[in-house]
Amino acid sequence: MRILFIGDIVGKLGRNAVSQSLPGLKTKEGIDFAVANAENVTHGRGAKIKHLRQLKSVGVDFFTSGDHIFHIDPEEPFSDPEIDIIRPANYPDKIPGVGYKIVEVGEMKVAILNLLGLTYLGDKIKEDGRNAWIEGEIENPFVTAEKLLEQLKDSDVVLVDFHSEVTSEKRAMGFFLDGKVTAVLGTHTHVPTADPTILPKGTGYISDIGMTGARDSVLGVEPQIIIDRLKGASVDSFEWVEKGVAVLRSVIVDFDSKGLVKGIRRLDLEVS
Ligand SMILES: [Fe+2]
Ligand SMILES: [Fe+2]
Repeated sequence: MRILFIGDIVGKLGRNAVSQSLPGLKTKEGIDFAVANAENVTHGRGAKIKHLRQLKSVGVDFFTSGDHIFHIDPEEPFSDPEIDIIRPANYPDKIPGVGYKIVEVGEMKVAILNLLGLTYLGDKIKEDGRNAWIEGEIENPFVTAEKLLEQLKDSDVVLVDFHSEVTSEKRAMGFFLDGKVTAVLGTHTHVPTADPTILPKGTGYISDIGMTGARDSVLGVEPQIIIDRLKGASVDSFEWVEKGVAVLRSVIVDFDSKGLVKGIRRLDLEVS
């Protein structure tokens, strides 16, 4: 079986890159199941249901997310039972959505689990105004993963989207879950890493898939705005790059009928 996992889709350019390339890619590469991180699909932050439906219509079978998914309306991304979407499993239970789902792909039971890193991210969310409604602790993702593995053990395949800021935390999670899940795939930084590998006990791994969106941007944002910010100017709003070349960043994971990983490789495309 072959799964395509697309990194954080950012705004209109990201959605267009997926719409233009995914139908052809699925046929050309023989993709059985396409997953995408959807936390930034609507103007860089959050996900309107119409955009999730649009992406589903061009072939995205399943959505993961992260810290930005609640930005527009916390309930909206989870409001359509036809859309398979998850949010980090280590958020408190009362937060909308669920942290993992098990779906059937052909004959196989595929579990997808979303986890949020704590370093520079989980801590910040608790203090961040836009997510101030999230009351309660974000659980340590290593603890959450350990607890949930028991519930996922009957699945043939377990894919983990580890949405985390720090590569060391991601690599640690990869080794922690090595031999226990099919793949640990990093998202959130929007910058692709060159380390797809099969870990010693057989788990497929990459630190970050990278974003799908504007090529000439800083994480999807107009570079000058970020430069001004970093030079100390108070710039209130982000301006998302909505013109120019887009990139699709993804990985392909191959595994056999027992869920054993046969290969993991990057698939990156420029879409004009
Ligand atoms: Fe993101
Ligand atoms: Fe994120």
